[in-house]
Amino acid sequence: MKAVFITGGTTGMGMELAKLYAKKGWKVGVCGRDKTKFDDNFQTEKDQIAFYQVDVANRAELKAAIADFSKSIGLDLLIANAGIGYKFKTKIPDFDWSYKMVHVNFLGVMYAFEAALDVMVPRSKGQLVAISSIAGYNGLPGVSAYSATKAAVQKYCESLHLDLRQFGINVTSICPGFVDTPLTQSNHHKMPFIMSAPKAAEKIAHAIEKKKMVYAFPFFFATIVRILGMLPRTWYRAFMSFKAVNYSKE
Ligand SMILES: NC(=O)c1ccc[n+]([C@@H]2O[C@H](COP(=O)([O-])OP(=O)(O)OC[C@H]3O[C@@H](n4cnc5c(N)ncnc54)[C@H](OP(=O)(O)O)[C@@H]3O)[C@@H](O)[C@H]2O)c1
Repeated sequence: MKAVFITGGTTGMGMELAKLYAKKGWKVGVCGRDKTKFDDNFQTEKDQIAFYQVDVANRAELKAAIADFSKSIGLDLLIANAGIGYKFKTKIPDFDWSYKMVHVNFLGVMYAFEAALDVMVPRSKGQLVAISSIAGYNGLPGVSAYSATKAAVQKYCESLHLDLRQFGINVTSICPGFVDTPLTQSNHHKMPFIMSAPKAAEKIAHAIEKKKMVYAFPFFFATIVRILGMLPRTWYRAFMSFKAVNYSKE
């Protein structure tokens, strides 16, 4: 039986992925900081899914949790999903929150991969997945650190995909557009092409099965964002000014 460990698996896309893999018959481990979220959201699957109360920004704790799961259950797939966003957009960065974002959204992925590779490299097999974002394709106004951490995750995965193939390990970065989860439920701005979390989880699991290098969705939104990324930056700046982005506490 295959085994998957999902960081930040207690709500949103992580929770939907955990439920989906459990339904497929996989052994599942999830982590999060707040056990009540696990207790509330996995009432029927509680006995099937192992929960670890861990902050992904704590390298030693995360390493111990992933080592424990892989030793007692196994580890074929690691999904580094835990992430935090902004409560509101700001022109002048909130640096305390920005540093927190770097620790959780980027270092949290590195720590998870490090722990998983301890197990996967000696076995010469395994899959590493990180949830980046379409927000990592271009520097977006008002969410500078979020865009930066998601861009870092994308590039980190791209490099590792090339490096780890020869060790039998596949690396995928997933770049969702807007997905309806607790993370986006406090947004007051428009969220084009927003998708439900169960549908997003299905798409992500399919991309993982296909061992894609990068998977961005929904297709139309991802294509627009990619085209914006190819524009000369002066055009991009003009486009974003034309959009008259409102930075106030939206
Ligand atoms: N929703 C979107 O539109 C969207 C779009 C693109 C990318 N993403 C990315 O997708 C991932 C999942 O987001 P989501 O939308 O499903 O959000 P969510 O519902 O808020 O879920 C976030 C999960 O991460 C956990 N988490 C947060 N900080 C953590 C930490 N320091 N240590 C351990 N666990 C932590 C949360 O549990 P605790 O609070 O209990 O720790 C929760 O289980 C994130 O990386 C996000 O950036 C989301």
